[in-house]
Amino acid sequence: MAERLREAKSIEQEIAELRRELLEHDYRYYVLNQPIIADVEYDAMMRRLRELEAQRPDLVTPDSPTQRVSGQPAEGFEEYFHKRPMLSLDNSYSIADLRQWAERCEKLAGGRKFDYVAELKIDGLSISLIYENGLLVRGVTRGDGVRGEVVTQNVRTIRSVPLRIGEGRGSRGEKKGKQASLFDDEAISRQPKEIEVRGEVYLPKEVFEEINRERTEQSLPTFANPRNAAAGTMRQLDARIVAERRLDIFCYQLLFDGEAAFSTHYEALEWMKHAGFKVNPHSRLCATIDEVIAFCDQWAEGRDELNYEIDGVVVKVNQVAVQEKLGATAKSPRWAIAYKFPARQASTRLLEVIYQVGRTGAVTPVAVLEPVQLAGTTVARASLHNADEIERLGVMKGDWVFIEKSGEIIPQVVKVIPERRTGEETAIQFPTHCPVCQTSLVKPEGEAVTRCPNPDCPAKLKAWLLHFAARRAMRIEGLGEALVDQLISPRVKRDKKGKPVKDEHGQPVILPPLVRDVADLYHLAERRDELIALERMGEKSADNLLAQIEASKQAGLARLIYALGIRHVGERTAQILADHYTSLERLAAATSEELAAIYEIGEVVAAAIVDWFKQPRNRSLLKRLAEAGVSLEVERGGRQQVARVFEGKQFVLTGTLPNMKREEAKAFIEERGGRVTGSVSKKTDYVVAGQEAGSKLLRAQELGIQIIDEAQLLALGGSRS
Ligand code: IVH
Repeated sequence: MAERLREAKSIEQEIAELRRELLEHDYRYYVLNQPIIADVEYDAMMRRLRELEAQRPDLVTPDSPTQRVSGQPAEGFEEYFHKRPMLSLDNSYSIADLRQWAERCEKLAGGRKFDYVAELKIDGLSISLIYENGLLVRGVTRGDGVRGEVVTQNVRTIRSVPLRIGEGRGSRGEKKGKQASLFDDEAISRQPKEIEVRGEVYLPKEVFEEINRERTEQSLPTFANPRNAAAGTMRQLDARIVAERRLDIFCYQLLFDGEAAFSTHYEALEWMKHAGFKVNPHSRLCATIDEVIAFCDQWAEGRDELNYEIDGVVVKVNQVAVQEKLGATAKSPRWAIAYKFPARQASTRLLEVIYQVGRTGAVTPVAVLEPVQLAGTTVARASLHNADEIERLGVMKGDWVFIEKSGEIIPQVVKVIPERRTGEETAIQFPTHCPVCQTSLVKPEGEAVTRCPNPDCPAKLKAWLLHFAARRAMRIEGLGEALVDQLISPRVKRDKKGKPVKDEHGQPVILPPLVRDVADLYHLAERRDELIALERMGEKSADNLLAQIEASKQAGLARLIYALGIRHVGERTAQILADHYTSLERLAAATSEELAAIYEIGEVVAAAIVDWFKQPRNRSLLKRLAEAGVSLEVERGGRQQVARVFEGKQFVLTGTLPNMKREEAKAFIEERGGRVTGSVSKKTDYVVAGQEAGSKLLRAQELGIQIIDEAQLLALGGSRS
């Protein structure tokens, strides 16, 4: 009996310790961005906690870190009336407007002194987090400002949202005594029963791009911008899908029992930071409107350095007493204003629509535009997504349209300008047959995507080969579009002198394509002569390509899983699967229950994986890849090892690089031990400059910092190790 009691106590203790540690690591990782343990150690602790909680379900509490993702999908959302309406903001579009607003504030303040807080205007959706007795009890969307939707389960998946106020903050190493209580500050004498924290939920740019890349690959309609993606995600009924999307939050408003918590807004920000909430680190207390304007200028220029979208600056009067004096209209407070950055929109003419067929057969309409300058680049194409989008926009050939670009994202057609119609415009006819193989297209009821159902459509094969060879996948450099076109097309047989060989009827002899699926790439070495015979393919380039293909056999399991192009399996999921199963054989044998039990893998993804491995076509492909010597195991030592040649070096990226996306360049540097920072300082070792490099390049020149281009970066890093 005594033994049993002791055991029970130790489980409780272990659970308490694990929770405390996990919360601390969450806080370090998600709020401070300074993890001190590796992911695998974190996962092991989480696994142990789950195990213990499974043994003792009576000990599971709603604020346990295991409760971030619930197993049960919600059934629609409940409504909730906000205690205080969630107002929106008035916009100003020029510095002159901003000055006028400040003058008005001064006048209405009636001689009271005040200062301003300037904050980044995060492009996401506002959310209210409600804590009762310190525990997160409700997450509510803004809705119409008065009434929102209860999305607590989804909000819980945001790792930087504390489930209990103050959790994890013990790790901040603050001065002794400061942590004793969050409420011992002189500024407040009350201990509120209800604390409401409002903030903006957003998707980091790279996650947004990854989601859209995956959605394109999976033939799902893409999101127009991170805000829509975040809003769409928050309204998902399955919290596990939300968890996969990795939303984040910046908190900007604090209410204690429905009232402003402190006498100044800046103190509220400080309190939230202290209490473990994620507050934007760039917020600034400004004594004058000139300081605010300098802040606006700085961020209009610097917005691309951030890993989230901002569309302006929010300026707030800092003193609550002055805020109250200024009051609010029905829609927005008079004490705050949004300064909006110049839009990244342009108008141009839509000349033509072309149709691209993707890896899964999805047919995507692409607008061909009269080239136009937009945010530093010339834009000649823009996405139209799908047939439904064309209908929604009501766009016609020859129309003047607005196009928009956010961050590094592909431009979109956002609106037609009907006033500019001449009557010459013509309707856009979505094709009924595949533009590549002429098979009749299908559009399943209720789906936005039109697809080519032909499994042997050359366009699908082409897209798959390009995906397979991509830098993020098997990294076969040199396997570009022109070459893939030749590899998958039938060829005319030629003799040694290059003359077409004729058959007995005098017709040229046609040879089958060199490549019919990705496994055929690994047999090209046996057909070197035929490879050399292709157009623009000399011996040297053929041998280079073959060497790249050979090297790709060791790309490692995560890259291979991603390269297979399984629906819903993007890079991150591929990495999780590789870490978990360590061999393709074991992954192929997994059941959907087993897969769905992995943290961060939902049922939809699990089903897609099982389905892919069930197909006889795919099974035989895997067999052939294995026979060709492609490694189907996790490489020793985990992720692919590269020499850490950039250890201790600081890089700054500026402008558009010819081949690499910014995030690819960043990953390339980080894999090799280097660090990428947002601004040039004396500590910077290299500035990697591409086209349209701006002020950072000038600054680097001023400081005499070494400036390199993409090719030099690749050479320094040893493009492949
Ligand atoms: S304060 C009464 N601060 O912008 C003041 N809003 O266009 C309420 N937003 O609905 C908002 N970043 O969703 C505030 N730092 C920030 C913000 C911010 C983004 C959003 C918020 C608001 C919208 C108004």
